[in-house]
Amino acid sequence: MRKILLVGCGHMGSALLNAWMDLKSYSFTVVDPFNYNELKKKYSKKKIQFFDKKLNQSQIKDFDIIIFAIKPQVAKKVVSEYQNFEFKKNCVIASIVAGKKISFFKKNIKNAIQIVRVMPNMPALINEGVSCFVSNKNFSKNNKKIIDDLFIKVGKIIWLQNEIEIDKATAISGSGPGYVFTLIDAFEKASQQIGFSKSISREIVLSTILGSAKLMEKTKKEPSDLANSIAVKGGTTEAGIKVLKKNNINQIMYNTFLSAYKRAFKLGKK
Ligand SMILES: NC(=O)c1ccc[n+]([C@@H]2O[C@H](COP(=O)([O-])OP(=O)(O)OC[C@H]3O[C@@H](n4cnc5c(N)ncnc54)[C@H](OP(=O)(O)O)[C@@H]3O)[C@@H](O)[C@H]2O)c1
Repeated sequence: MRKILLVGCGHMGSALLNAWMDLKSYSFTVVDPFNYNELKKKYSKKKIQFFDKKLNQSQIKDFDIIIFAIKPQVAKKVVSEYQNFEFKKNCVIASIVAGKKISFFKKNIKNAIQIVRVMPNMPALINEGVSCFVSNKNFSKNNKKIIDDLFIKVGKIIWLQNEIEIDKATAISGSGPGYVFTLIDAFEKASQQIGFSKSISREIVLSTILGSAKLMEKTKKEPSDLANSIAVKGGTTEAGIKVLKKNNINQIMYNTFLSAYKRAFKLGKK
């Protein structure tokens, strides 16, 4: 039986817990002082242990994997609580905290040997996420497999080369669902402005987006080729795409990523 400790169980921590809690070969312990009562109630039928304060040395020694799923703003304070603990041999220290580097965990947890940074995203809630990873050199093949097997439960897995790439992934896939929802919102609002009801707008916009993404996945064609194939000269799609291009959609997207990337970098430094 492998033991996982989840430090922080908010949006992403609970998405992971939901996907993993019925795995037969794992047991779960959660430390979250602020949502303790709520979490205990929510998972009352499950064999999960909850704590509202940090654990002690004898408890910590039991865990095979410790996952930090807290906000970057509290990371220094929370991670430092683990500063002088001794861990089980081969224990994985995993972090989904945006921006916080492997060196941050090394510096703040004296006995952290095998460290992995993971960047999941929100569709993990329905096991349709994508998780990107980078580890330190000490990370064993066996632990890599264990981490792969866990995160594959919430979607695709991608190992990256270095930490710069994980900050970039944070800006693209980590924050990406937020951009997509913002775009869908704009799409729906425009549909309503043109005269459709809220419910019809929801139905046609969501079907259009889901259908287009699935078509691209299935045909494996380039998005620009697919767009060109609809945008016949003098037609309606061409007229619409012209407006997107005139307003520099590519530059807007690039600026969006760049802003999130810079933020990930800044959060890591704080
Ligand atoms: N949400 C996403 O889509 C997403 C995607 C990829 C990565 N991430 C990363 O995942 C991390 C968590 O994000 P989130 O959206 O899950 O945030 P969240 O919902 O705020 O969850 C963080 C949880 O940690 C709790 N917490 C605060 N102090 C703690 C302590 N001392 N010990 C244990 N738990 C503590 C928080 O309680 P309070 O709420 O009361 O403070 C909260 O329940 C962030 O670093 C974020 O960058 C999130």
